[in-house]
Amino acid sequence: MVTLGYILRHIREEKRLPLQQVSDATGIDVALLSKIETGKRMASTGQVLQLARVYDIEDATTLLVQRQSDEIVCNLNQADTDFAMQSLRAAEAKVAYGSQYLSLFMDALYARPIALESRRYIGSKAKLIDWIMTTIKREAAGARTFFDVFAGTGVVTKAALKTFDFVFTNDFLHSNNVIYKAFFGDGDFDETKIGEILDYYNSIEAEALPENYFSINYGGKYFEHSIAKRVGYIRQDIEDRKQTLTDKEYCILIATLIYNIDRLANTVGHFDAYIKKPIKYQPLRLRMIEAEAYDNIEIFKQDANVLAGELNADVAYIDPPYNSRQYCRFYHVYETLVKWDMPELFGVALKPAPENMSRYCTSHAVEAFEDMIFNLDVRYIAVSYNNTYNTKSSSSENKISLEQIKSILGRRGPTRTYECSHKYFNAGKTKFDNHKELLFITAVDETYRR
Ligand SMILES: C[S@@+](CC[C@H](N)C(=O)[O-])C[C@H]1O[C@@H](n2cnc3c(N)ncnc32)[C@H](O)[C@@H]1O
Repeated sequence: MVTLGYILRHIREEKRLPLQQVSDATGIDVALLSKIETGKRMASTGQVLQLARVYDIEDATTLLVQRQSDEIVCNLNQADTDFAMQSLRAAEAKVAYGSQYLSLFMDALYARPIALESRRYIGSKAKLIDWIMTTIKREAAGARTFFDVFAGTGVVTKAALKTFDFVFTNDFLHSNNVIYKAFFGDGDFDETKIGEILDYYNSIEAEALPENYFSINYGGKYFEHSIAKRVGYIRQDIEDRKQTLTDKEYCILIATLIYNIDRLANTVGHFDAYIKKPIKYQPLRLRMIEAEAYDNIEIFKQDANVLAGELNADVAYIDPPYNSRQYCRFYHVYETLVKWDMPELFGVALKPAPENMSRYCTSHAVEAFEDMIFNLDVRYIAVSYNNTYNTKSSSSENKISLEQIKSILGRRGPTRTYECSHKYFNAGKTKFDNHKELLFITAVDETYRR
């Protein structure tokens, strides 16, 4: 094995320096120098620095790193290379993830696939889901079909699949659509085959890869450069092997990529901007998402208002954006990753040309909402509303007011309002004086239509 001693001997011989001369220049005894070079003794930090000086090595850290790695290797069980490599990877992850390592370890310990809820997404109802579902079920007694009109992460769809006989789910973002197909969509998939592909992706070293669309554009910005290189390579590889995959497998691989890089993104949780600081390297080790195949779901990627006029269900759940922040702009990097059409990117935030801009984020939001509510062919309408209004930012101001929602819903039938206590979404820790989570449930009555 190549040790620090072996390297030092190599350097000395290249410089044609006898041991005695090095000993005179460093003050290290000749016998000790010899033991260091043959690996019988470990050089102290001070001795390494002395030798670096005599050998004209400007960056002594490179030698100190060798010394430290010798210490690590010395404690490894080298008879079992596989075990030794696993221990090294665990040590690397501990250093990189710090306190976050515990949750990663627990997931790996029980070989847990990544859950749908683990994604960072503005407006996700993950923390409110029990309250939302219990309230809807109580109000909409006997309902069997459910329509998640603005599904976002899909957490409401996931809960509905366990509660209702049939679920329609919709969102116009390409990335969300692939995620629903991966987590819920019907279709065959071979877990062993996907596991083998992921093992291959996990074995790839970034240094061996050429630059690609993802690394050139997002490297050092939204993602650490070597991670960006691997992401671009993996995405292209998924595309290249598409013919050998079922549609479900293709979606699982892309969703797995998104879910695993989500926590590595150099952002505050969305891609409106990246953090302007050097990015700390964190290892990327792909773990499969929690894929299931349901035969009682239909997945759509349409404008919600168009679809609302075409479907019939017992319950429609409406959770649109309520301010001017467009979701297609927040999650543009995932949209580009999914479409993989390598668009030209603009501005500091590297966004592509706009697509799927929502009327709900504009001054036409009230019209859009009214049009939707009057076009729905359902027995119950459930509407989520929150007023995460931030007085400092006009873009976070709600486009549809509470009163407008109540008044529009009231024209389709008797409407009840439920307010969620803070402990549901906040574990009681943060003070949200102004934060309200409301759920309106309208029992549609055709005699109300006006
Ligand atoms: C508040 S989020 C929904 C959050 C979701 N309930 C959850 O728990 O994750 C609103 C979603 O509506 C989608 N959206 C906005 N306007 C849309 C439209 N006109 N048609 C379809 N989807 C739309 C956005 O892409 C976004 O994912």
